[in-house]
Parts: sequence; structure tokens; C-alpha cells
Amino acid sequence: MEKFLVEKSRKIKGTINVEGAKNACLPILAASILSNGKTIIKRVPFLSDVNIMCSLLQDIGIDINKNIKDKTIEIDTKNIFNKEVCYELVKKIRASFLLAGPLLARFGKVSIQMPGGCAIGVRPIDLHLKGFKALGANINQKHGIIEIDAKDGLVGTEIYLDFPSVGATENIIMASVLAKGETTISNCATEPEIVDLIDFLNSMGAKIEGGGTETIKIKGVTSLNNCQHTIIPDRIEAGTFLVLGAATKGEISVLNVNCEHLKAVTSKLKEMNVEIEEKDNIIRVFGKNIFKNVDIKTMPYPGFPTDMQPQFMSLMSTINGTSIINETIFENRFMHVCELGLMGANIKVEGNSAIINGVDKITGSKVKATDLRAGAALIIAGLCAEGVSEIGDIYHIERGYYNIEEKLKQIGANIKRIDN
Ligand code: EPZ
Repeated sequence: MEKFLVEKSRKIKGTINVEGAKNACLPILAASILSNGKTIIKRVPFLSDVNIMCSLLQDIGIDINKNIKDKTIEIDTKNIFNKEVCYELVKKIRASFLLAGPLLARFGKVSIQMPGGCAIGVRPIDLHLKGFKALGANINQKHGIIEIDAKDGLVGTEIYLDFPSVGATENIIMASVLAKGETTISNCATEPEIVDLIDFLNSMGAKIEGGGTETIKIKGVTSLNNCQHTIIPDRIEAGTFLVLGAATKGEISVLNVNCEHLKAVTSKLKEMNVEIEEKDNIIRVFGKNIFKNVDIKTMPYPGFPTDMQPQFMSLMSTINGTSIINETIFENRFMHVCELGLMGANIKVEGNSAIINGVDKITGSKVKATDLRAGAALIIAGLCAEGVSEIGDIYHIERGYYNIEEKLKQIGANIKRIDN
């Protein structure tokens, strides 16, 4: 199994080009099912999850032409057909359930494996199914397979989401774009990735308003056509490198970012007395100050993102004093606490809060990535720890960070991949 060997790195300095957002690219690939023609997607992060999503599309007859060098995918749905979504591939990524909405809209019928939970939580899909039912679909669940069908087509309606679920908002939007009449989704998610999906669909001819607000209105249309779209920058990749620059007392410029998307992250770093410079689409972090401990509560966007929680925990581990992280989005997103504990961090978990008592130093140890953001947190900790850290299960990390080893080496990080 491949691992990363990571050592304390005192001269972290350089620039990072941020990739396109994984969590925008996945729903946009699913939405390409709705096009009658060709779509071209630019700034694609060719991560393992993205490649699996492409294989899922190819499995239903969609032509996919990848240009890794240009970070572009050309998609043609002329030979598309409907079938049960490939079981083997669905098991690999939860985001495969985002195929349900577009397949239901295009074919009026979907047969797909229940997406399993994962390390960070049960991750139910009740809100997705509530939306499909409200649009007129029938749903049957047995033997782990969900059969969804709408023999008389989908009809626009009003849907209230009990929680602003990102995936449910995306799936219901994609199911509604070809429905008869207008759909209103209330208390929906407002993440930038939702806005990017809406921009993609509108450029194909959809009529969607309210992206980025808690109420989205979709006027059903009869067909969607060709389009070309560039994915927004990955705010979580960008935030991860900002925290890494602070934790290692380094100096990193993160390029091609949208500063607005990172407001919660940069505000929290400034509150910790981390020096941050923002200009146009560049954010620079300088780790030379003495940092202050702060408290964090994860919230739906524009609140502090849960996908940045593990990385901040690594940064907080060696800040004098006590910091508290309250994780309100996922019920089990503290697995990295044990791993950081192996490195000497002093962190206790009480319910959905982690209490971090800063220690003078952490030391290298054998640890394992438990999910993609926890894995990033362990890299950050390893770059600050005395001695060598061996990080296992790095496939988690590579799901969310394209070419991370090369990017880290370019800014002076002591990281090496081994296979034993
Ligand atoms: C998306 O997951 C992201 N993944 C996650 O990023 C991110 O952490 C999450 O949104 C929250 O921002 C992708 O976009 C591919 P949710 P998603 O539906 O859509 C509950 C990463 O690190 N819920 O907003 O699955 C659910 O249990 C990943 O890149 C229901 O109860 O998130 C959870 O507690 C990790 N019923 C909360 O809502 C439902 O039907 C948030 O889930 C759906 C969700």
C-alpha cells in the first residue's frame, strides 16, 4: 500500500495554482446527462472521484474525451441509453447518487444502488428522495437498490428542505430542469458549487434563478443543448494550502482563487493573527506571527466549512491555550483526533465538540488518513512535527487533492511516496 513519508519542513515558500473545484465538477459531470448535444468542461481536476464519475457516464453510452494537459473534458450524449447504474462504480463514490436527478429527468426512470455511508457519517438521502417524490416520482427501495420512476413525467412543485443539503439541492435542481412547470426549492444550500452547477445548466438553456440564495426557482424547459463551462476554483484546496502555510511558518501564494468563497476561512485565520494578503484572485499567507487560539463552529455556506475543520485542528494543535471546534454538519468527523493524538496532540472529544489544548510540539508517527480532509490534516501536522510521519491510506487524500505530492515538493515540503 502506498504511503507518504513526511518530515518537518522549515522552508515552505512558493505559489500554488488551485485546481477546479471537485465538488462543482462532480455534479456538473452528472448534469451533462441532460444535454442533447456536446458539452465542454474546462479546469477539470482529474482526481480519482472525477475519473470514476466519467466511467459512470461512459457506462451509459456517453462519449468522454479527456485532455489531461488542458484539464478539459469533451462530452457527447448522442449515444446515451438508460440502464441500472453500474454497481461496482457506484460503491466507489457517494457522489454517484447525483446521477439520479438527471437520469430521472431525461428518462423518467432510474435504478441505482443506495450510496453507502462513509467514515464521516451515515449520510442519508431522505431529502433527495423527498424532492423526487414531490416532483411526482414513485420510489421503491429493496435489496439496496433504489428504483425511481415517473411514468407521467415530472411536474414542477414547491419543495422545502429540512436541512440545506448540498447534494439534495443539486439532485432536485437537475430533476426539475425538464419538468412541466415551475419548481421552487426553499431552505436550499447556497454553496458556490451549487451556483456553478446552475451557471452550467443555464448555459445549456435551463431557466434557473436564485443560485446562492436559500430559494431557487426552476422553470422547466423541453430540452438542453450544447455548452462550454469552466469550473470555479476549489476553495477547499485553496484553504488547505493557506492553513499549511500558516502551520509551517511558511509563505504561500495561492493563485486563481475566488476570495469571496474563502471569506469564512481567511476571516478565521486573521482572527488567529495569521497574516493574510488578498489581491484580485491571489491570497498570500505568512506564518511568521504568534497565533492565537480561537473557536470554530462548522455551518452551511457562507458559514465555516466542515471540509476545512480537520486542517484547522492540525494548526490549533500547537497553539498555546485552548481552542474548541464544534462540528455541526457530520456526526462522525473527528476520526483525525486519534491520529493527531498519536503525534502528541492533546485533543478531547465531547459530543460534537473537540477541545484542543495546544502542546509545545508534536512528533512524527505512523498514522492513517480516515477521509480526504483528515488526510490533508495529517500532512499539515507531519510537516510541523519533529521527525518522520508515515501516513497510510493516502488514496483518501488523492480523492480530493490533485498532484498534491508535486505541489508540496515545489514549495519545499519534505514529502516522499513509498510503496510497502
Ligand atoms: C457535499 O456532500 C460535499 N461533497 C462534502 O464534501 C461536504 O462536506 C458537504 O457537501 C457539506 O458541505 C460533494 O459535494 C461531492 P450534504 P453532501 O448533503 O452533499 C445530512 C469533501 O470533503 N443529509 O450537505 O453529501 C447529512 O447526513 C466532501 O469534499 C441528510 O440528513 O453533503 C449531513 O449530516 C465531504 N439527508 C448533512 O446533511 C439528506 O438527504 C450535510 O450533507 C442529505 C444530507
